[in-house]
Amino acid sequence: MKTAPQSVSRSPKRVAKPLLGALRGAVSAQPPIWLMRQAGRYLPEYREVRARAGSFLDLCYTPALASEVTLQPVRRFGLDAAILFSDILVVPDALGQNVRFVEGEGPRLDPIRESGDLAALRPDGREGKFDKVWQTVGEVAKALPEPVALIGFCGAPWTVATYMVGGRGSPDQVEIWLFAYRDPDFLQALIDLLTEVSVDYLSGQIAAGAEVIQIFDSWAGNLADDEFQRWVVAPTSRLVAGVKARYPEVPVIGFPRGAGPRYEAYIRETRVDAVSCDTSLCLDYIAGTLQCKVAVQGNLDPLLLMVGGDRLDRRVDGILEALAGGPFIFNLGHGILPRTPTDHVTRLIRRVRGGGK
Ligand code: CP3
Repeated sequence: MKTAPQSVSRSPKRVAKPLLGALRGAVSAQPPIWLMRQAGRYLPEYREVRARAGSFLDLCYTPALASEVTLQPVRRFGLDAAILFSDILVVPDALGQNVRFVEGEGPRLDPIRESGDLAALRPDGREGKFDKVWQTVGEVAKALPEPVALIGFCGAPWTVATYMVGGRGSPDQVEIWLFAYRDPDFLQALIDLLTEVSVDYLSGQIAAGAEVIQIFDSWAGNLADDEFQRWVVAPTSRLVAGVKARYPEVPVIGFPRGAGPRYEAYIRETRVDAVSCDTSLCLDYIAGTLQCKVAVQGNLDPLLLMVGGDRLDRRVDGILEALAGGPFIFNLGHGILPRTPTDHVTRLIRRVRGGGK
């Protein structure tokens, strides 16, 4: 497939989108690139809008501002994709759980621990908040240059449930394990609700203009075989099937972070079109075992991007050498860190596009 140069932003003819090409199996010596958390605190223009917005959730629910921060990294760096600016915790918030983001500490939720808490959630009360997110998608879709693809997303049911039950992030999200072992029926009911709501939420994003979906399962690591199957693979399979029943053409990227050798079963059973590979996966394993099945995305260490210099260049070259021979999207292995200098991002993109050697 021919890829359109980035400079062609307004052509009357149809311009190919390199990201969609890679997701359909196209191979390019200069693979498409975007970065998880590309809109965020490392950008001064983001911090400026964030300060004006009030709370983080206010930013997510104000389409004029959320679309502006979605577009900022695309404008600054000429990336191949924009990812909707929102958060995976918009879903519990829209369901009526109390969610807030504490400066310097991260998300805090009033934990859901018993069936009464579950019954108090309002799956029907979500329209207003999801509408705001869908409106943001629509505004971004109108403003994007043609070769740039628009990615919508949600958290996988398991990962969203870890925050809903634990009430916050922790190094291992251990709280949910107690539920998984002590009261699996309760957890199953929560996971089922999240799966169902997430199908609607993603379908609304696609209807508004999202062309690709990514499912973030940040806490998919450390699960024993049966548990991985029950809490990660099964709900994700239902989520993917639910979206594909309505939108069979829209590619889905799965990100079971930390799943290690279980990436294979995840690909086979969830029927995602691509996987986002975390930093811990070996390039040999990605190239030899995963890339022959689906397109792959990843997996530069965000810390190395923060550090920059020759080590960054060498690692970028190593990733390209290992993965650019098959369908590949350059990305990080996890989200970009707030202290990342913007010129390291510029340097990375230039190198991936072949201009930095
Ligand atoms: O990638 C993007 O640019 C799109 C926006 C996006 C955000 N969060 C914005 C955000 C996406 C795709 C997410 C996903 C997300 N959110 C995940 C999955 C990916 C991952 O990182 O593992 C998770 C687990 C969350 C939950 C969440 N949101 C946490 C734990 C935190 C606090 C950590 C932090 O960096 O502050 C957030 C807050 C958050 N989400 C910020 C941004 C830009 C920073 C908040 C701020 O600007 O004050």
